[in-house]
Amino acid sequence: DILSLAHEWDIDLEGDHRVIPHSSLTSPIGACEGSIACSTCHVILEPDVYDVLPEPSDDENDMLDLAFGLTDTSRLGCQVL
Ligand code: FES
Repeated sequence: DILSLAHEWDIDLEGDHRVIPHSSLTSPIGACEGSIACSTCHVILEPDVYDVLPEPSDDENDMLDLAFGLTDTSRLGCQVL
């Protein structure tokens, strides 16, 4: 489930679906608070998890294009967690 996924990726899920990884990323995480105006919540999902999620919106895809290290199973965490 999404919680074990979050643990696997060392992500804390907080209250209103913000994503706060315990990593040394320099930019603030979830900077736009889920309004698809940043890509700081970029997460890379396992393929079997990615496959069961609804398709990303055009807005999400546009923002993902700007994400560092984009992969085939990348999503914006604020849109899926
Ligand atoms: Fe900004 Fe997800 S928090 S796009």
